[in-house]
Amino acid sequence: MKIGILTSGGDAPGMNACIRAIVRYALSNGIECYGFYRGYQGILDDDHVVLKRTSVSNIIQQGGTFLQTDRCEDFLKSEYRRKAAVILRKHGIENLIVIGGDGSFKGAELLSEETGITVVGIPGTIDNDLAYTDRTLGFDTAVNTVIGAINNLRDTMQSHNKVTFVEVMGRRCGDIAFNAGLTGGAEYVLIPEMPFDIKKIAEEITESALKGKKSNLVVLAEGAGKMEEICAEFEKFSGIKPRQTRLGFIQRGGSPTYYDRLLACELGIESVKMIANGTDSRVIGVKDGKIISYGISEALKMRKQFNRSLYEDMYKLS
Ligand code: F6P
Repeated sequence: MKIGILTSGGDAPGMNACIRAIVRYALSNGIECYGFYRGYQGILDDDHVVLKRTSVSNIIQQGGTFLQTDRCEDFLKSEYRRKAAVILRKHGIENLIVIGGDGSFKGAELLSEETGITVVGIPGTIDNDLAYTDRTLGFDTAVNTVIGAINNLRDTMQSHNKVTFVEVMGRRCGDIAFNAGLTGGAEYVLIPEMPFDIKKIAEEITESALKGKKSNLVVLAEGAGKMEEICAEFEKFSGIKPRQTRLGFIQRGGSPTYYDRLLACELGIESVKMIANGTDSRVIGVKDGKIISYGISEALKMRKQFNRSLYEDMYKLS
């Protein structure tokens, strides 16, 4: 048996650890592994490497993905998905493991429906924006990176009596902002899931400054609005010019945390087991500490639940 492996969409810490787990577990069970470079594009270009145990040496601790990744526009078209299946079958590959986010899973769903190639999807994105799983690979590391940045910012803001807005990634999902804000002790967290009133925030911060509060830190999810506009509004209502820090791609890199490595190992092993047992196309993830799987279209239809009460309680801590 042969398995194809690729990483797709934005890279995330833990992707390398996951590829390592897949390759070593598969080889231990007599299954060959073909790695395709730059996501689905690597299949279309037939740009691949046959992966040995040593091909994945010394990568468990590395961020990024040594197979590289891409957002492949061509894969949105049926003709290219059919071409991909022909190339996979030329190598005797009927099973593909895709590590990526919702866009990558959409491609996987269509590839599977149209060509009969079996795809197992592993959630790999810092955004944690897939409803069917509690966690995606890379999220824990990204949140820890943001907390580190918040700690540094607080030192300097405190020394200068400043207000700072910190913009973090997450696309349309506020999970990075909320989790980093809550555990980093931010005064405010602005996310797409919850309405916010910038005038009220400006008034509260002005009042707290009068009472002697030395600094205020506002975490802004990129999906909640444009930082420049929100900061201009804030300045209009408070008369305070806030500092602006956009963390950007810093959040996507770095050595994966313990949790992301553990998840990478568990999901990697499970994906190979499923394929060896003749699974249909599915995505896997984790719910309440247990590994779970769903049909791809069912998983993609699910809507993420936001922990509104924890968000509201956060303000009692700030
Ligand atoms: O999906 C991961 C992510 O880092 C998002 O948080 C961000 O909005 C986006 O990718 C950036 O994408 P790109 O790498 O295409 O600029």
